[in-house]
Amino acid sequence: MDINIALLPGDGIGPEIIAEATKVLDRTAAKFGHRIRYTEALVGAAAIDATGNPYPDTTHCICREADAVLFGAIGDPKYDNNPKAKVRPEQGLLRMRKALGLFANLRPVTVYEPLVDRSPLKADVVRGTDFICVRELTSGIYFGRQGRDRHDTRAYDTCTYTIDEIEQVLRVAFRLSGTRRRHLTVVDKANVLETSRMWRETAQRTACEYPDVTVDFMFVDNAAMQIVRQPTHFDVIVTENMFGDILTDEASVISGSLGMLSSASVGAEVALFEPIHGSYPQAAGKNIANPMATILSAAMLLEHLGLDAEGRAVRRAVDRALAEGVVTEDLAAPGEKARSTSEVGDYVASQI
Ligand code: IPM
Ligand code: MG
Repeated sequence: MDINIALLPGDGIGPEIIAEATKVLDRTAAKFGHRIRYTEALVGAAAIDATGNPYPDTTHCICREADAVLFGAIGDPKYDNNPKAKVRPEQGLLRMRKALGLFANLRPVTVYEPLVDRSPLKADVVRGTDFICVRELTSGIYFGRQGRDRHDTRAYDTCTYTIDEIEQVLRVAFRLSGTRRRHLTVVDKANVLETSRMWRETAQRTACEYPDVTVDFMFVDNAAMQIVRQPTHFDVIVTENMFGDILTDEASVISGSLGMLSSASVGAEVALFEPIHGSYPQAAGKNIANPMATILSAAMLLEHLGLDAEGRAVRRAVDRALAEGVVTEDLAAPGEKARSTSEVGDYVASQI
């Protein structure tokens, strides 16, 4: 198969982790007889520096023409510490999600047996965790009206959802539940927010079409607690944009490191694959960041293209690296030697 991948390394550690993912993809392609062509494009602070725009039109065209997009990370401290900046790298990511119609973000949370003791939570609590959070990605408070009043003494961000927006992401979650343990948890704040009440109504109505899926509802504050109290309770979680952002960073501690969580964003046409972590600027250029989340995102990319055996081969190689303790410093056991980003990538590639 000929595979055309748009490659968007982005900022901070982005280029380093993307390099390891393409190393693993190339090795997989060679083993299975595929040809991968990468087209690199700018996004984020890197794109602002070069063009003034965090998501240039050329990048959009390259993404639209690709079979899939592989994305690294976005963000730069020079913008974080300047709340008055007019253009921000994160706008690039949000525009890209919107322009590509990527309304559902799938974030799997699993515990790898060799890492049960790396989690700050008790091994007995995290062992066996295997759920996916489906986060709505192109609406809600991230995309509502925002601004300041003319005296600059009041600021606002508004959360809006249409029934159609809710329904389309719910359907992704229901269908996904049907392929798993058929248990869907809808997370909202329906005791306070009107948008959440619309989510709940829509979920109750949509549930009739998926009678084999058991649906339960949970307020987001309770969900934040249950995710660390009893993570094995969950199979598929579906929630709105900002709740999903927050809950999945929280959930990453279950697997031992934010550097393990991959994601797929799907919707209208082309799908995008990215680690859930940020650009980790303190580590940029040091060859110490964990490339596993990006490598696992590449596995999701292969599976999305129907290349299941190839995706499985990547996952098995990751399992082997973890079992052998070939991990970066975020996961190294006390007294054990931490490997560099490229050493981990080399090892995973060598196991394909
Ligand atoms: C994520 C990130 C982004 C988000 C930021 C970088 C805009 O935190 O993908 O989870 O909030 O969606
Ligand atoms: Mg986030």
